Amino acid sequence: MIGERQDLMEKVTALSKRRGFVYPSSEIYGGLGGLYDYGPYGVALRRNIRNLWWRHMVDLRDDVVGLESTIIMHPQVWVATGHVENFTDPLVECRGDCKQRFRADHLGSTDRCPVCGGPLSEPRRFNTMFKTHIGPVEDTASEVHLRPETAQGMFVDFKNVVSSMRVRVPFGIAQQGRSFRNEITHGNFIFRLREFEQMEMEYFVRPGEDGRWHEHWIDERFNWYVEVLGIRREKLRLRPHDKDELAHYAKASTDIEYLFPFGWGELEGVANRTDFDLRAHQQHSGEDLSYLEPDTNERYIPYVIEPAAGVDRIMVTCLLDAYDEEEVRGETRVVLRLHRDVAPVEVAIMPLSKKKELIEVARQVQRTLQPAFRVEYDQTGGHIGRRYRRQDEIGTPYCITIDFATLEDRAVTIRERDSMEQERVPIANLLDRLRERFA
Ligand code: GAP
Repeated sequence: MIGERQDLMEKVTALSKRRGFVYPSSEIYGGLGGLYDYGPYGVALRRNIRNLWWRHMVDLRDDVVGLESTIIMHPQVWVATGHVENFTDPLVECRGDCKQRFRADHLGSTDRCPVCGGPLSEPRRFNTMFKTHIGPVEDTASEVHLRPETAQGMFVDFKNVVSSMRVRVPFGIAQQGRSFRNEITHGNFIFRLREFEQMEMEYFVRPGEDGRWHEHWIDERFNWYVEVLGIRREKLRLRPHDKDELAHYAKASTDIEYLFPFGWGELEGVANRTDFDLRAHQQHSGEDLSYLEPDTNERYIPYVIEPAAGVDRIMVTCLLDAYDEEEVRGETRVVLRLHRDVAPVEVAIMPLSKKKELIEVARQVQRTLQPAFRVEYDQTGGHIGRRYRRQDEIGTPYCITIDFATLEDRAVTIRERDSMEQERVPIANLLDRLRERFA
């Protein structure tokens, strides 16, 4: 079973490269651990995931506003939050032949190297923030970090948002953007990266109401994976953190986990960060970061509930969850049964041949559908079965075929990805028919 599951990860990794979803970064130079590039279909899939998150976390609510803060922030930000001191992983080194480094907490109770069996060093704390310098002089005074989480932008700009927008507690600030962690062990494809993308929301609440809001956001976020992304419910679970694994800023935290081929893994954490961050920034910056309740004139530092997700992990989850193989007429058909809202292409348009008359009609169909759907025009002229298989592999829900009969009856064939069933539809009704099918 484990072998089978691991096999699934290998298949998805291979498909991702073959079909233009994910490439190793700088591959022509041998690649770089924990860094990946996203190809054309990967970009489309990620954009859809981000848009669906933004739509449900910001656009469809009136209590959450957006923010884009910088990746490099004032060095005091990370001192104030304790990241300089505490954002560490326990590192052990192999003292045997291979000299590899590992995260002690990923090795369990063993004191032997998992690669060569050699003895391991005592664990030491390794800070996973990347450092760089600002300005032309590389001294410690110019040292800055690449952010390891997007969250701090929301705390540091809290006062700006409160004074410039008409927000009232409870309210949230949401951000999507790149974060960086110098992970000791990366791997499992794009699950653990050194450069990755987060989607985080800090929801500010009255102290005392934090427990209720924490439960609310755990439910809300779990349902988003099932109802909006179409991830199988039975592959998801909630896992509350034990006290000893809580991050240094959290009072409670629950992970939303997916059953990956390598076991259960975190997709998103929903944490109760209390007033830790605002209080820390107030103390270090000297700025008053309290909130004045307009109705009661009560002043307090809000507590914060934080749903924090990773785009890369959601992407690999969508691919793994959707991957399927079936036997069709003696051949294996690979199909990504992606939810239509995340599928890179919603409708592929295929003239059966490169004949001018067919291309004219196909282009006209493309112009009709393009404003309503993510459309791909495929004029490669190869065998239609192979072109369907290619669209199956990238998860396209519908293919539209324009054939020679189209020139007579002004109708086209809709071919559905999952059932492979075909329906003949007049071009004049095509847009409405597709809307009906997608509804
Ligand atoms: N602001 C809280 C925070 O950053 P986290 O649990 O460390 O919490 C939140 O990160 C999410 O970011 C994770 O659930 C995961 O989806 C994603 N993430 C964290 N580290 C990652 C890594 N090295 N590679 C890919 N995604 C990562």
